[in-house]
Amino acid sequence: MNEHISVLKTEALDALQVNATQWYIDATFGRGGHTRAILERGGRVIGFDCDQDAVAFGEANFAQEIQDGRLILINQNFGKLKDSWERLRTEKDIPAIAGILFDFGVSSPQIDTAERGFSFIHNGPLDMRMDKRLGVQAKDLLIVLPEKQLAELFWVYGGEEQSRRIAKMIVQQRTRKPFTTTQELAEAISKVKPRTGHLHPATKVFQALRMAVNSEVDSIEAALPQALEVVQAGGKIVTISFHEGEDRVVKHLFQKWQDKGYGQPLDKKAVMPTEAEVTHNPRSRSAKLRVFAKKES
Ligand SMILES: C[S@@+](CC[C@H](N)C(=O)[O-])C[C@H]1O[C@@H](n2cnc3c(N)ncnc32)[C@H](O)[C@@H]1O
Repeated sequence: MNEHISVLKTEALDALQVNATQWYIDATFGRGGHTRAILERGGRVIGFDCDQDAVAFGEANFAQEIQDGRLILINQNFGKLKDSWERLRTEKDIPAIAGILFDFGVSSPQIDTAERGFSFIHNGPLDMRMDKRLGVQAKDLLIVLPEKQLAELFWVYGGEEQSRRIAKMIVQQRTRKPFTTTQELAEAISKVKPRTGHLHPATKVFQALRMAVNSEVDSIEAALPQALEVVQAGGKIVTISFHEGEDRVVKHLFQKWQDKGYGQPLDKKAVMPTEAEVTHNPRSRSAKLRVFAKKES
């Protein structure tokens, strides 16, 4: 299994301007790469992850930091950021949050674990839930959604140009036998959509299904305004997006906040990984980092 390599780590840490003893929220703990870097600079961290495996990994690998009270891990969707923070600030007597980091999407171990169902390369059940408490899996969407809605989903969340053709194929096939594995789906898509370029034909459909199963855009839209409330005056909100659907939400919201006088985005253009980072970690190639600085009081 591939280790998760944190994307734009130095850039994210520099943007957060980590100060020793101040508290930060890592809203997407994952394998704790960004969290570890904050801890190494002397910061303290509240780490969120909706995935039970990510939190279990953190508890096993950051036991000392948790015991020292420098790291608090919460198995929670970042859409509940404000509630969780308000509970913690009284329970643990945390004075303020100096910065909040969102590194959206999935981690490499999630993709590489076949049973999680995120991958069209490793065969597994069509699950794709990051949080196992969620009720709906990818296979359920493929059974219940009407053809038109499937096509819309593949287009809006995946940018899939062949969305209608693929939706039609799925609806025809499911009357005979519903899709249950990642391989069945990936192979069926490959038949209606021949490979062009370096992307696997199923890439965009898999991304769209994952985003729908986990309500990813809704969570981002819910969390960012909460982050603005939670972060202290002068604090930073840092986001790392991996595709247009995520980045658009961030960009528009930061612009709206600036117009309302809540602070300002730090760069006009998103920060992208260097060529060296992309060579070392191809997963970083589509990453975009944005920073919003909340107004000093
Ligand atoms: C790209 S990984 C983060 C990697 C991490 N920054 C690191 O360096 O190890 C994204 C993580 O965020 C989690 N995640 C995605 N959406 C979430 C949400 N709405 N609430 C909480 N966690 C979420 C995923 O389960 C995954 O573990």
